[in-house]
Amino acid sequence: MKKNPLIPFAWTAVIGLILIIGVSFWALQQGGEESAEGHGEKQEQAEAAAPEEIYAQNCASCHGGDLGGQVGPALTAVGGKYSKDEILGIIKNGKGSGMPAGLIEGEQAEAVAKWLSEKK
Ligand code: HEC
Repeated sequence: MKKNPLIPFAWTAVIGLILIIGVSFWALQQGGEESAEGHGEKQEQAEAAAPEEIYAQNCASCHGGDLGGQVGPALTAVGGKYSKDEILGIIKNGKGSGMPAGLIEGEQAEAVAKWLSEKK
């Protein structure tokens, strides 16, 4: 009979707190996604655009809409060949004679490099 009578209340409080924190994170993420989308619609060139869209606008003409390659080589497994930083380097500096340098910059280049480095 040494049970502390407050313990059930303490648990309720802890569970309540976890729920509150969880729901706030969820709400934050929902809000973040919506504002990012709204942003992209208003300014199509905004840096927050999805890597797929940036790729479609800047890279697909040479590398194919499905990454399957055209003028440029296929990028379907490029993540197995290069790291994110190496891809970023290719985007910044170009490659060989056919791959133009600096097509995209900053956050856009980061986003596309990360996205491509996951294609393995
Ligand atoms: C004008 C056509 C053209 C465009 C536009 C273009 N590329 Fe390329 N890309 C090439 C060619 C050609 C090569 C092959 C270069 C070589 O190896 O000599 C290449 C190579 C690459 C490689 C290295 C592939 C490998 O297997 O070695 C990556 C990564 C790449 N491009 C990413 C991109 C990204 C990202 C974009 C958009 C920002 C883009 N490219 C836009 C033509 C293009």
